Amino acid sequence: MSFKESFAFNFVDEVELVKMIKFNPYYQKISSGANLYAEISGEKYLNLASNNYLALANDSRIIKAMKKALDKYGASMCGTPVACGNVDIYESSAEFVSNFLGLEDTIFYPSCYQANIAIINSLVKPSDVVFVDRFAHSSLIEGIRSTDCKIKPFKHNDVKYLEKLIKNSKTFENKFVVTESVFSTEGSIAPFDKIYDLCLKYDCVPIVDDSHGIGVIGKTGKGILEEKAIENYKGIYTASTGKALGISGGIVSGRNNIIEFLRYNSSSLIYSTALPPVLIAGTIKALEIIGNEGEKLVQKLAQNKKIIYEKLQKNGFNLTKSDASICSIITGSNERTFKVCKSLFDKKILTTPFIYPSVSKNKGVIRMIPRIDLEKVQMDYIVDSFNKIKQQNPELFA
Ligand SMILES: Cc1ncc(COP(=O)(O)O)c(C=O)c1O
Repeated sequence: MSFKESFAFNFVDEVELVKMIKFNPYYQKISSGANLYAEISGEKYLNLASNNYLALANDSRIIKAMKKALDKYGASMCGTPVACGNVDIYESSAEFVSNFLGLEDTIFYPSCYQANIAIINSLVKPSDVVFVDRFAHSSLIEGIRSTDCKIKPFKHNDVKYLEKLIKNSKTFENKFVVTESVFSTEGSIAPFDKIYDLCLKYDCVPIVDDSHGIGVIGKTGKGILEEKAIENYKGIYTASTGKALGISGGIVSGRNNIIEFLRYNSSSLIYSTALPPVLIAGTIKALEIIGNEGEKLVQKLAQNKKIIYEKLQKNGFNLTKSDASICSIITGSNERTFKVCKSLFDKKILTTPFIYPSVSKNKGVIRMIPRIDLEKVQMDYIVDSFNKIKQQNPELFA
């Protein structure tokens, strides 16, 4: 997707396609949790669509911690953090998250989508310039667009290109560099150590969204800063807790002064109901588990990815180059993407089809999360299913 193109999902042309193939891959009615098998219309589907990488959404330790918090705090504080939502658990948890990441301070937003828009909108002025990876998530793009600043997209993960752009941008008041850690449609990892070096060299503020990195990359699952051995990070860090951590919510961490500024100058924090304490309790338990077992969890996840990825590759399937724990088969057109997704669905496998504008036009992919609770039998079944679909419909993979 070029940066100028819409980031909003516009399901118009696809309606005909859905009618033709009699299958809509979106808004499937699921009547179970994000378990290994999702229940749809009374049948069980192998769930490779959920971002429940570490199966923590169903972990009994997390559920127990959340039940305890529910009993103590109830369902919601029914108020904004500034008014009456700043429960004790917020402060101790902010400290816990900051220590986990090796950063100074943290705030919780109702979601990372909201957090990304909020922080960019609060920090960036019309006289500033933002350099942004052209594959960045729509929440980051939406945040940047809300500011009237100068926007300079850089080629995906291209540090040389970014440096050239920065060098040619001397007249702006402040400079920001915005990127993700793991690009979730394809699984590439940003060279964030190099990007961070550039930020230090040219006095830019880095903003990294680690939504698909936290719990997944870094030797012990601490995310992009651990993965790239970045210490004393001076920029802004955001992440969703709704992926590998298995909960829901957004984290923003960084230096004390920036976080304190956001506490009083970020309207979507100040004017939105505080993230319920039950979700904070779940997040802390998830981080505790990753803190204790992260290395083992990351290794098993990476091993599952490697098995599926290499087997599919060996069988002639075209996958995106992926360094993270994501397997995406390149399907190209919307029609092929939906048809492959349907064929997998017919074999009781649930996947995520990405089409434009989530990816560039005709660069559709079928994404699978090689979740940690997959065993050999399921991984063999996935590869077997792809082989059978290709045998019956070679044109879908030509
Ligand atoms: C990179 C990235 N950032 C932000 C988000 C939004 O996170 P949340 O679900 O917490 O709003 C997502 C989720 O799709 C994401 O992939």
